[in-house]
Amino acid sequence: MNQPITILAIESSCDETSAAIVQDGRVLSNHIATQKIHARFGGVVPEMASRAHMENIVPVIDAALVDSGVSKSELTAVAFTQAPGLIGSLLVGTCFAKSFAQALGLPLISVHHMQAHVLAHFIDERKPEFPFMCLTVSGGHTQIVLCRSHLDMEVLGETMDDAAGEAFDKVAKMLGLPYPGGPLIDKYAKEGDPKKFKFPSKEMKDYTFSFSGIKTSVLYFLQAQRKEDPEFAEKNIKDICASVQHTIIKMLMTKLEKAAKDHGVKHVGIAGGVSANSGLRAAMLEAGERLGWEVYIPKFEYCTDNAAMIGITAHYKYLQGTFTDLSATPSARATWT
Ligand code: KG4
Ligand code: ZN
Repeated sequence: MNQPITILAIESSCDETSAAIVQDGRVLSNHIATQKIHARFGGVVPEMASRAHMENIVPVIDAALVDSGVSKSELTAVAFTQAPGLIGSLLVGTCFAKSFAQALGLPLISVHHMQAHVLAHFIDERKPEFPFMCLTVSGGHTQIVLCRSHLDMEVLGETMDDAAGEAFDKVAKMLGLPYPGGPLIDKYAKEGDPKKFKFPSKEMKDYTFSFSGIKTSVLYFLQAQRKEDPEFAEKNIKDICASVQHTIIKMLMTKLEKAAKDHGVKHVGIAGGVSANSGLRAAMLEAGERLGWEVYIPKFEYCTDNAAMIGITAHYKYLQGTFTDLSATPSARATWT
């Protein structure tokens, strides 16, 4: 019998330290240490993130190994997120992966974080067929990606300024909500009227997004309303959240529907932290019904940053024979490969 492909995968691009064991494309374990320290600063503080990664990385890898029942000697490769992300954070995962691989004499696989968000769809039993269209929406990115095969992906469009998650978080901050505000906007939006307030946003061509306009219109709207009533935001929080969420989802879905139609794609999914948003999930299911799509939404634990998605990407790279060597360095802004 062939030896299984057993990969230790490490993710440390932002503020989650994560390790997973993926064997023959199946996730045996996936541990995530979330850094709570950033909440009080209203956003991720890069220097603190790298320090926390250094504290978390050994216990998280240990837990992933123990939980999987796999010993170090059974590993066949080590994978790590090489880009994009916070450079100090990426350095911790990269250095650990390189040292570990060298010590154990294992091959190294570097993974692009955004490609991994898309391939998170291939963790579950129900896998998309190609061509597959994925809207990746996180705190740092908003991309529409056309996948022709596991590793043949094309970014059709992305944001020219803020990411969708960033727009959620910045509006939440204006409303006095703690970081990350996306989940709280989602919570309040469930009880609000999505048509109550209108927030104009800039029309962008093709598949390009821009979220800076909606952020500014919410800011000016709140400033004007607060002059009349200082407690306006508190009194209307549900309707404001519902209206902002509705506007952001409409922007995302309009472009995604156009991309799927233009490319004749019927297998469509969402990935990244914002895909946890209940309004976006509902909009995807509604579009699926209306347009005859097969809709894919990963499990919540695979939507936000995690090492399982790094491991599954590394699995396909292993099959393709794509490895890196000990000279690999992380990159904050690596271009798509
Ligand atoms: O993918 P992710 O965990 O990390 C990045 O790579 O950025 O995404 C985090 C982002 C944050 O902006 C957070 O506010 C947003 O995802 N988010 C949500 C929800 N859950 C997380 N945004 C809207 N609704 C949610 N339920
Ligand atoms: Zn991410």
